[in-house]
Amino acid sequence: MHGPRPLEGTVGMAGAKNSALKLMAASLMVPGEVVLERAPQITDVDLMADVLRRLGAGVERDGDVLTIDSSGELLEEAPYELVRKMRASIQVLGPLLARLGRARVSMPGGDAIGSRPIDLHLDGLERMGVKFSSQHGYVEGVVDRLKGTRVLLEFPSVGATENLLMAAVTAEGTTVIENAAREPEIQDLAAFFQACGARISGAGTPTIEIEGVDGLSPTRHRIISDRIEAGTFAIGAAASRGDVTIEGIEPLHIELPLQKLEEAGAEVTRSDSSVRVRMSARPRSIDLVTLPYPGFPTDLQPMMMVMLAQAGGSSILTENVFESRFLFVDELNRMGSHIRVEGHHAVIRGVERLSSAPVQVPDIRAGAALVLGGICAEGVTEVYDSGHIDRGYEDFVEKLQALGADIEVRA
Ligand code: EPZ
Repeated sequence: MHGPRPLEGTVGMAGAKNSALKLMAASLMVPGEVVLERAPQITDVDLMADVLRRLGAGVERDGDVLTIDSSGELLEEAPYELVRKMRASIQVLGPLLARLGRARVSMPGGDAIGSRPIDLHLDGLERMGVKFSSQHGYVEGVVDRLKGTRVLLEFPSVGATENLLMAAVTAEGTTVIENAAREPEIQDLAAFFQACGARISGAGTPTIEIEGVDGLSPTRHRIISDRIEAGTFAIGAAASRGDVTIEGIEPLHIELPLQKLEEAGAEVTRSDSSVRVRMSARPRSIDLVTLPYPGFPTDLQPMMMVMLAQAGGSSILTENVFESRFLFVDELNRMGSHIRVEGHHAVIRGVERLSSAPVQVPDIRAGAALVLGGICAEGVTEVYDSGHIDRGYEDFVEKLQALGADIEVRA
C-alpha cells in the first residue's frame, strides 16, 4: 500500500468470527439442521467447517448463510492436522462430550500471542464428571453423563466459559459458572441455545446458571456483528486522521475503545447501529490496559499501538491478557516508531509520521494493524504473510479500498 492516506467513507461489518466458530461447534449438539445467518466469509470459518465435516456433520454454505446438519452419527476425534491450523477447534470438546460421552481432541498448543493452555477447560469439565487422559498429543475424555456443578474460573477465560456452557446445556442438573467471561460472543452463544430450548440465565454477567435439558431442537440464528472488525476500522479512521462511518454494529460492544479514541482527540458519533469516527488533528497520547470484556479488548491492542505510535507525546500500553502479544512491535519499529517493551508494558514515544518498510505478519490482529500502519506511513509498505488477515477479516482489502486506501494484494 501507498501512504499516507486518510480513510474516509462508510463501511459495513460482517458477522463475528469469535461467535461464528463457537456457534458452529455448538451445532454439533443439535440433532437436525441449524441455520446460521451472517456467517463471515473468512478462512477460519472454512477451517471449522472442515472440522465439523470430519466429525460427521453436514455443512453447506450459501453466501453468508451456513446450514449445519448434525443429525447423523458423529465421530469423536478432532485430528491434529485440523486443530493445529486453528486453536478454536478445541471448542468441539464440550459438544462432543455432551453428545457422545467421549471426545479425542488434539492439544491445540500455543501461537504467536501466547502459550494458551486449556487447563481451565479441562478442570471445569472434570468437575462435571469427565475423566481425562492425554497421550500422543491428544486429550481424551470420557463420561457417562455430564453432571451439573458449580465451577469458579481462576480467570474469566472466553474459551473455557464457552466449553463449560456448552457441556452444561444438556447435563444432568444445574451448572453455575462463576467468574465467567462476559464477552458479547458468550451472550450470542447463550441466545442461540435458548432458541434451541436450553435454560440459561446470566450470560454477559460474571455468574451464568445453566439448568440441563434432555434435548435441543434446531433453530435459525443471526450472528452478532464483529466488534473487533468494527474496532479495527474505528481505530483506522483515527490513526489515519480520517472520517469513517461503521454500519451494522452494536456500538455498546466497542464502548471502551470508542472512549479511548475520544480521549486521544477523536470525534465519535454513536447511533443505534452505527458509529462515526473523525480525527482531524494528530492523536493525543493516552495510556490503556487490556482486560477481559467490558475492559479494552486485547484483540484491538495492536491497532491502538499503531495510532499511539504517531501520537503527540508518550503513551503506556499494558497487555494483561496474552503474555507475548507485543511480538509485532519489532515490525512496527521497522516503520520508524519508537516503542520499547518492558514485560507486559509497552512505552510508546509518538513520532510525527511512520515511514514505509517491508513487514511480516505474525497473526490476524497484528496483520490488520500493520496494514493500517502502511496506510498511515510515508511511501510504499509491503506486508508479507498477509494470509493471516484473511483468517479473521472478510474482504479487508476491498473495504479499505472503498475507504480510499491505495492498497492491493500481490500474489
Ligand atoms: C478468545 O480466545 C478469542 N478467540 C481471542 O481472539 C481473544 O483474544 C480472547 O478470547 C480474549 O478475548 C476466539 O474466540 C476464537 P481466553 P480464547 O481463554 O478463548 C489464559 C482473535 O484474534 N487461559 O479468554 O483462547 C490464556 O492463556 C483471537 O480473534 C488459561 O490460562 O481466550 C490467556 O492468557 C486471538 N487457561 C487468557 O487466559 C485456560 O484454560 C485468556 O484466554 C484458558 C485460557
